[in-house]
Amino acid sequence: MSKTTAILDGKLVAQARRAALGEKVSLFRRAYSRSPGLAVVRVGSDPASEIYVRHKVEACESAGIKSFHIEKPATISQEELEKLIDELNANPDVDGILVQLPLPKGLNETKATERILPSKDPDGLTSGNLGLLLAGRARVAPCTPLGVMKILEHYKIDVEGLSAVVVGRSNIVGKPMAQLLLESNATVTIAHSKTKNLRDVTRAADLVVVAAGKPRLLGKDDFKPGAIVIDVGIHRVAHDGGKSKLCGDVRSEELLGHAKALTPVPGGVGPMTIQMLLENTLTLSELRQKRNI
Ligand code: GUN
Repeated sequence: MSKTTAILDGKLVAQARRAALGEKVSLFRRAYSRSPGLAVVRVGSDPASEIYVRHKVEACESAGIKSFHIEKPATISQEELEKLIDELNANPDVDGILVQLPLPKGLNETKATERILPSKDPDGLTSGNLGLLLAGRARVAPCTPLGVMKILEHYKIDVEGLSAVVVGRSNIVGKPMAQLLLESNATVTIAHSKTKNLRDVTRAADLVVVAAGKPRLLGKDDFKPGAIVIDVGIHRVAHDGGKSKLCGDVRSEELLGHAKALTPVPGGVGPMTIQMLLENTLTLSELRQKRNI
């Protein structure tokens, strides 16, 4: 008989943390007579970005964080975008600035991201913040990998001594994920699109974080029995009758009874990414108040 697979419910963890965050935000407001503020900048009309940004703005409201929702046409120049970021850097009511990625073609994402002051970067994506993370002195860690760590913490999954494989090496997920697992004393391997014999690598792992960005890339044969599988992917794919549905990077139905634990899509890592954005914004607000910047 197959064993039961624990479903790691990120939505539930995010909800529990949202309530606790709301209280911390109230304390902040009482102490400093203002709300933490997050500016969310969306450029162009990418439909997925539109939904993500709407969720982020709604989440801010639910936690008592003031949101500044700024939309610009895809025709905005790099110079204009950077000027907007400079203005937000200088705005005392703004503690965090998020420029939703991807940007439309023709705009330089690295330059735009680097324009954000590291002290106002709740994504933890500037080189200043990634450097601090690598040095073990993180100001804020990128939201998705941080959310994964908090899910593991919630379910009391101790990664110390585990062999962990991260599939994907992006600055926003793969690299910081590996660093956070390393800090928690896992033995970490990063696999990527050029990895030879990927299956042999993932099958050897106790914990696999899949952030490959490829719908349903990995299935049962890619994981050892009893593995812990974290699925960071989220893709909208065509389904029966012209409908679409969401799926991850993992063929999750194959893992039931095989993996020890698994994050679902939707309802796994996604809600935690947003929750971490809010928590990082509060962290930055508190740091700014304490340092008077
Ligand atoms: N696009 C998809 N996820 C993210 C994120 O976490 N931050 C930003 N800035 N853009 C994204």
